[in-house]
Amino acid sequence: MSTAYLAAEGHEERLSEELNRAGVDTSAIHGRLFITDVGPIDAAWAANTWFDTRRLPIESIGDAARRLRSRQRSWAMYAPVHRGRAALISEKLPPLSGRPLELGQPAPTSPLGSWTLLDPDVMLIAERCSSAFANGEVPLAELKVGPPNRAYRKLWEAFVDLGRFPEPGDDAVDLGASPGGWSWLLAELGCRVAAVDKAPLDETVAAMESVRTLQTSAFGLSPSGVFDGRPPKWVCSDIACYPDRLFPLIDRWMVLDPAPTLIFTIKFQGETDHDVTDRFRALPGARVRHLHHNKHELTLIVGG
Ligand SMILES: C[S@@+](CC[C@H](N)C(=O)[O-])C[C@H]1O[C@@H](n2cnc3c(N)ncnc32)[C@H](O)[C@@H]1O
Repeated sequence: MSTAYLAAEGHEERLSEELNRAGVDTSAIHGRLFITDVGPIDAAWAANTWFDTRRLPIESIGDAARRLRSRQRSWAMYAPVHRGRAALISEKLPPLSGRPLELGQPAPTSPLGSWTLLDPDVMLIAERCSSAFANGEVPLAELKVGPPNRAYRKLWEAFVDLGRFPEPGDDAVDLGASPGGWSWLLAELGCRVAAVDKAPLDETVAAMESVRTLQTSAFGLSPSGVFDGRPPKWVCSDIACYPDRLFPLIDRWMVLDPAPTLIFTIKFQGETDHDVTDRFRALPGARVRHLHHNKHELTLIVGG
């Protein structure tokens, strides 16, 4: 078994630390790609994980393209070196769509492999990868009219990752909502939104009919006071705070019955705390991922 991990851009060191902690040797590096000889682990800082990688000697550009095409239709190139030769191989492969997702559109389901040139005459390939997108980069359409900032994109990507968007009429709580990108997105998707922040919302978001502002601390809020005691379908949090502070908050919302789906940003200040990441990962039904639209932060998703 062999696995390769493509670090999210700018997060090579964090991924290396994460792999090392799990006992994975990270000495074989190719650009942002860590090539290992062991089975896969769940790596939060990987933009894409290549499963069951294989080294293929190639005789020519045409031979490389033929070998890839004979396995499956779609292949994403990763070319940190030998770029010109890799581009010539790529030109002989069926084109990838690359079209940005529209709001509500799910991830593509057709298999997408990854390949790279280790040497001019050696490819590393993987038919199966963790991401449905080339190099884990999730292209989203620009929604220019409406949102007060671009933060809505990471929540949108979380829904794509989850494989499910809110339904019209769902109740959603947005913790740490100001200025209101997430609340705007939730309202745009048809949710009734309780936007919680000590800071005010952008005026246009506050004026949206389905957005209710609760100008208070998220840490002092009782779930029973938000939607007349009904558990919301979604609890989203982008609160700027130390990761540790989120655990009691998560507990409070997780115990509701039926349990909401939770989408929480985990923001790191300075050093990355891998122990805290493990604690989030250990929550029942939890996944922790660095999304393409995340910065020095991870996204926790709890719920199927
Ligand atoms: C990164 S911003 C959120 C951006 C927002 N998701 C958006 O799309 O516009 C972080 C927010 O956390 C809020 N925050 C910090 N401590 C908080 C607390 N105790 N309760 C509620 N909000 C808090 C800050 O006021 C700030 O507005």
